[in-house]
Amino acid sequence: MIPLCIPEIRGNEWKYIKECLDTNWVSSVGSYVNKFEEDFARYIHAKKAVVTMNGTAALELALRSLGIGQGDEVIVSSLTFISPVNTIKYVGAEPVFVDVCRDTYVMDVDKIEKMITPKTKAILPVHIYGHPVDMDKVMEIAKKHNLYVIEDATESLGSLYKGKAVGTIGHIGCFSFNGNKLITTGGGGMLVSNDEKFAEKAKFLSTQTKVVEENKSFYHPEIGFNYRMPNVLAAMGCAQLENIDEYIQAKRDHAMYYNELLKDVKGITLPIEKIGARNVHWLYAVLIEEDYGISRDEVIKRLNEKGIEARPFFMPVHHMPPYKECKHGDMIITDELGERGINLPSSVSLKREDIEYICSILS
Ligand SMILES: Cc1ncc(COP(=O)(O)O)c(C=O)c1O
Repeated sequence: MIPLCIPEIRGNEWKYIKECLDTNWVSSVGSYVNKFEEDFARYIHAKKAVVTMNGTAALELALRSLGIGQGDEVIVSSLTFISPVNTIKYVGAEPVFVDVCRDTYVMDVDKIEKMITPKTKAILPVHIYGHPVDMDKVMEIAKKHNLYVIEDATESLGSLYKGKAVGTIGHIGCFSFNGNKLITTGGGGMLVSNDEKFAEKAKFLSTQTKVVEENKSFYHPEIGFNYRMPNVLAAMGCAQLENIDEYIQAKRDHAMYYNELLKDVKGITLPIEKIGARNVHWLYAVLIEEDYGISRDEVIKRLNEKGIEARPFFMPVHHMPPYKECKHGDMIITDELGERGINLPSSVSLKREDIEYICSILS
């Protein structure tokens, strides 16, 4: 089987993890926790980074750190993994769904403004599969309506918008280090901000609102959470980060080769890279159009039978039982992409022969 997306472990992972085990620094305090935060912030040019147990926890902390809660509305796309939408509910707020663009698969910024109400507190753009949302427009709308912006950059570490790393443009950005992500710690996440007060609040909440003051041991002024990442996993993160540029290049090379081999296949729409964007192509994503001849699901079945793992795009969240009643605008493109999209194998270790084999079946 050619897998969809498996981790790449080729560096100092064993060495750094062994060091944690040898020294007993396995839990949530330890030098690798601090190092991973510092190295990550430096790498993506964010002022501060806070490491978490997964990307979902980072998103929830982002909402809580900005004071979003009961009665508030958060604008989000529906063509996404469900996690960011769930976190809006965790804090007691309501998701409001907007449509996506057909060419980039991410939030259609021209449809945001008509969904804003007096209850709207934030916009949560999700950079799915690698293409950045048009962040200039998001920030312009946010400024005009006094809203926060939380970027879900979990799938787009390595993507750039006008030279800036996605996740560093809004008030807070969130990343995931799940096993299928560009870099992994098995499970893990990171929250970044250029505003130290938001990052500090997130760190405080993630550590059970622990107070570091004399005579204040075990005094907790607010309800907190244990969303910390253990040192042993942070050690893996540090090692993974050392090779990130090679991983980004590999993903982009794979996408270019796929594009070259599929460009003349009738009925397949290829992923793009808009001017000013760098698409990391975390998962190579294409659309199976009407004139391809067979349906998206049949294509997936055919690929699977040939030993290739492929998966459909996300099922739009506004169709799922907990979210059916939520407010949304027109969802024409979201619904269409939910039925037409396919992710093809995209591991860093994917070989050119694998791509040739996959494309030979699609051609
Ligand atoms: C778009 C998106 N947001 C959030 C998450 C949540 O990250 P995690 O699985 O680390 O909780 C994921 C996936 O893993 C995701 O794909």
